[in-house]
Amino acid sequence: LSDEPEEFDTQLVASELDLSRPRPVVTPWGTMALFRVGPELFAVQAFCPHLEGPLFQGTLAGEIVTCPWHLWRFNLRTGERVDARPSFFARHAGGGTPPLLRCAVRIGAAGTVILARPAKAREHR
Ligand code: FES
Repeated sequence: LSDEPEEFDTQLVASELDLSRPRPVVTPWGTMALFRVGPELFAVQAFCPHLEGPLFQGTLAGEIVTCPWHLWRFNLRTGERVDARPSFFARHAGGGTPPLLRCAVRIGAAGTVILARPAKAREHR
């Protein structure tokens, strides 16, 4: 993974993003979805970790996105699933739903959205 880029310029102009339709963006780290919450942009994996439902088409309520397929809910800032009670498995085996893959977002000099390599990819180096 050492040849993965540290950043990826989406070429999308931040000011032109349609806020009502988070869009999937193909990146070196997989397909990510851009969401805007107030003044902030979040980039998380575009497809749900459950059965790969289109999380980018999910419903937003604050920082929480709800997957349209089976209504799992995730916090965009932390990536954590927020609707599940800890299961026996999660409590005793360290399992449960892993957090969404997330990229830090910044706006480049040209006004385009630039994503940082996800933390998860770093951990797995
Ligand atoms: S695919 Fe997202 S909750 Fe099932």
